[in-house]
Amino acid sequence: MEDRSDVLIVGTGHGGTSAAIALRQNGFEGSIAMIGRETELPYERPPLSKEYLAGDKPFDRIAIRPAAFWPEKGIAIRSGVAVVGVDPQARSVRLSDDTEHGYGTLIWATGGDARRLSCPGSDLPGIHTIRNRADVDLLRAELDAGARRAVVVGGGYIGLEAAAVLRKFDRDVTLVEAQPRVLARVAGEELSAFYQAEHARQGVDLRLSASVEAIVERDGRVAGVTLSDGETIDADIVIAGIGIIPSVGPLIAAGAAGADGVDIDELCRTSIEDVYAIGDCAAHANVWADGAVLRVESVQNAHDMAMTVARAICGDPQPYRAFPWFWSNQYDLKLQTAGISAGYDATVLRGSPEDRKFSVIYLRGGKVIAFDCVNDTRSYVQGRKLIEAGSVVEPATLADPEVALKSLL
Ligand code: APR
Repeated sequence: MEDRSDVLIVGTGHGGTSAAIALRQNGFEGSIAMIGRETELPYERPPLSKEYLAGDKPFDRIAIRPAAFWPEKGIAIRSGVAVVGVDPQARSVRLSDDTEHGYGTLIWATGGDARRLSCPGSDLPGIHTIRNRADVDLLRAELDAGARRAVVVGGGYIGLEAAAVLRKFDRDVTLVEAQPRVLARVAGEELSAFYQAEHARQGVDLRLSASVEAIVERDGRVAGVTLSDGETIDADIVIAGIGIIPSVGPLIAAGAAGADGVDIDELCRTSIEDVYAIGDCAAHANVWADGAVLRVESVQNAHDMAMTVARAICGDPQPYRAFPWFWSNQYDLKLQTAGISAGYDATVLRGSPEDRKFSVIYLRGGKVIAFDCVNDTRSYVQGRKLIEAGSVVEPATLADPEVALKSLL
């Protein structure tokens, strides 16, 4: 492989691969290379905590494209190697195998690493994260080998989805969440209460406002966890779903601005010339969050930022304004979220959680800013339009299931 590319993409996740594909779709004819730390060809990450963990989808069904696609499109992939340094003057990156790769334009699409537990014993065998295929293969091997009792640490989407899969396999599950409610980072109280009740009904033992103080060891591997109140819970495996840490070290060391992740402007440019950043690691002023600077951890954001960068590189720059959406599957519950609820000052419940089909609508200053829809695709589709239109609607009207949301546009 050439050791210089017109566009060099660091990261082969949803952001990096979407950028490469979009460049070709936009007619870019220069050389493109992607550098990926993992050894596999690019694959989708959302199924890792859902169908792939459950064994319902084999690995070849989560490939982003068939293997032949990449060479056909003239997209080179260097896998199993990480970028450890960036030299903006020389326009090159240094790799973990001690080689260098030059670039005309660099796209940083590295996402983040699963945060690990940091209490005593947290590096023992039997402690898992769910971020990469290798993580899940290891976890599945232990489940297949008979691991029965699991402690899941973290009540975000990763922890909740993993708990749902483990219950499907009839394993004992205790879920430990540091906050007083699950999904506290991303959703309002109504949604948290619903998911707590559902997981409890499915047999998950929920421990809220609780944290893990230490891992109990037996025979050189995990045997349980000790909680902050002193209680010990026996466990064959521990799964930590406690968030991600953006992988931006080399970029920040090279002088890029950033605190939580790397800062980008509306064209996804970092403060270093000809270096873009996209996806989970990119802190930006989001127009759907009233301009608040944040990172959005979603496939939508990675994919749509890639479109923004590809257009900019191809000479058609358009600011990033893509509409945020997300989904989560747990048991038979299909959650779809539209918009960004952060900063809401009121919520409205539409439909009833008892029917297991309802939506939580988030308002800020009377304006509809986000929808969390459970088994309620119609509200998701129509709610999105209300958000996009910047609609101001009376809460009582939004709550009334007799009033079609589309009639409010
Ligand atoms: N003990 C217990 N709970 C903890 C601890 C801890 N030591 N540290 C963090 N938590 C809790 C947080 O309060 C939060 O509710 O773990 C949860 C982590 O949630 P997220 O930050 O949303 O992260 P996670 O669920 O791991 O998801 C990571 O994967 O599904 C994608 O889009 C999702 O980008 C997100 C990523």
